Amino acid sequence: MCGIVGVVGNSQTTDILISGLKKLEYRGYDSAGVYLNDQQGHDVLIKRVGKIINLQKALTPQDQGQAGIGHTRWATHGEPTQDNAHPHFSQDQRFYLVHNGVITNFAELKQKYLTGVEFRSDTDTEVAVQLIDYFALTEHLNAQQALQKTVQLLEGSYAFALMDRQEPDKIFIAKNKSPLLIGLADGYNVVCSDAIAMLDQTHTFMEIHDGELGVITNNSVELTDHNGQPVSRQPYQVQMDANDVSKGTYDNYMLKEIDEQPVVLRRIASQYFQSAQSQLSESLLTALQNADRLYIVAAGTSYHAGLVGRQLIEDLADVPVEVHIASEFGYHLPKLSARPFFIFLSQSGETADSRQVLDKVRKLNYPTLTITNVPNSTLAREATYSLPLCAGPEIAVASTKAYVAQIAVQAILAQALGRQKQLPAAQDFDIVQQLSLAANAIQTIVDQKDYLQQLASEYFAHQHAAFFIGRGNGYATALEAALKLKEVSYIHAEGFAAGELKHGTIALIEDNTPVVAFILESQTAAHTRSNVKEVLSRGAHPLIISKNSLADSHDQLVLADIDERLMPILAVVPAQLFAYYAAVERGNDVDQPRNLAKSVTVE
Ligand code: G6P
Repeated sequence: MCGIVGVVGNSQTTDILISGLKKLEYRGYDSAGVYLNDQQGHDVLIKRVGKIINLQKALTPQDQGQAGIGHTRWATHGEPTQDNAHPHFSQDQRFYLVHNGVITNFAELKQKYLTGVEFRSDTDTEVAVQLIDYFALTEHLNAQQALQKTVQLLEGSYAFALMDRQEPDKIFIAKNKSPLLIGLADGYNVVCSDAIAMLDQTHTFMEIHDGELGVITNNSVELTDHNGQPVSRQPYQVQMDANDVSKGTYDNYMLKEIDEQPVVLRRIASQYFQSAQSQLSESLLTALQNADRLYIVAAGTSYHAGLVGRQLIEDLADVPVEVHIASEFGYHLPKLSARPFFIFLSQSGETADSRQVLDKVRKLNYPTLTITNVPNSTLAREATYSLPLCAGPEIAVASTKAYVAQIAVQAILAQALGRQKQLPAAQDFDIVQQLSLAANAIQTIVDQKDYLQQLASEYFAHQHAAFFIGRGNGYATALEAALKLKEVSYIHAEGFAAGELKHGTIALIEDNTPVVAFILESQTAAHTRSNVKEVLSRGAHPLIISKNSLADSHDQLVLADIDERLMPILAVVPAQLFAYYAAVERGNDVDQPRNLAKSVTVE
């Protein structure tokens, strides 16, 4: 989704902006642009459709600045064209603005204030920059005042970085519901929508809260609330290393992140159990124990991790759990239990669909926990409690290591809650040992890459559709496996409850249709095998992934035996590799699949 970068007070501004934009590529985008000002009367605006390399090629050695702003755009309002790319500028070319988010009342504002203005784009952002200019001219306001006046009228979400030709030594910012950070560097300052973009400039960052505005120069940062009252904010250090976000020897991030999964599980075990301070506070466990029902809310892959978490929590902690898709839940709030507790699962911690639910339940004063890979993210900050995934930066759009980390952290939480309640199921469950077994078992799977690549080629790469089936945890895994294949290979894939296929969808089975069956639990293994026979007799090409103790000699892939509730951690890995290798064989961009964004900050 859209990415913002800005620099003020550095003669290398062009290079810093381009390098920052490249680091944000993973978020997904379809055009990019920069505005540069050398503070000596020369400025330039360059925008291009497509990859950042197109923008880079359009820049000449003369295109330098002492300050500038840059943007990667993921189209929401208007096609991905050069005119619709950011930065947008005011009619008199005084103001330049980059924006992440969606302004919902833009048409109304355009109608009310900007009838005489000639627009060059179809975007909501251009309305914002023309409005800033309108107030600056008609009410004789400076840029800071005009931005403040404008944001007071806006509805929706925005992270803004604004430059004014009349004050080119400043970047003006404002934020509401879309991510934006200030980075404090040596002799200059930066802004960005994700710290990853600026880690090679600084590790010291400052949060901006919703409703706040700011003015940044090379050596100062002034923050105010939406009424202009000063706000003081302490900077914080981001521990991540710039190397954590490099591909190393890999061709792309997705394979690197799949391979990192054993390390991630071991890191989670050590961070949660060996570090001096436990991540699980007494207060969190007490709040969970006081709840009569837990509501897990998430989107995409995180939602699938929640489905696996439900069984872990219900079994180990004996509390009912519901799992909801964030974009549905917020607008169709079910009748809640008397003492609900909300758990938000989110790799990025910025997903707008989940944020709108958090906003609503906070207003109802319910306790909340965010489990996220980005500890300073909005969802982490705004929930009552937060727990880290410790997965390290996940750059590929298709989530892999964050998914296994989400299951692991939910298992840790479930065990802690069950032990606090002195439940035998939790006393008997040794999560540290299970995570270690899972890490070893994943290593065995990723070591079979040649075989998995061969299966990917034989079963998927040349197909137009594929089905994944399973029961219980196998069903949750089927949903995630199908999502992975869709995301990166663009093959139509569906995950089904194995028993449900025969109630309609089996009509789609043709000769050679791949059907992957997950046989992960003893309770339902025989039934799922019957479902495989049903599709086999209709011409399907079945691929069976089973747990060792339930395996048949003809199964294509046999996984190690670990606790059944954690089997999805293992079973998803071959599916990730099928998706990866099928996508590579089809010539797709695996890290940045078409139409997708890593962090979806619009609803
Ligand atoms: C986007 C990503 C998915 C991700 C989903 C939820 O759609 O492309 O990979 O699962 O958002 O993201 P979150 O950061 O909240 O886990």
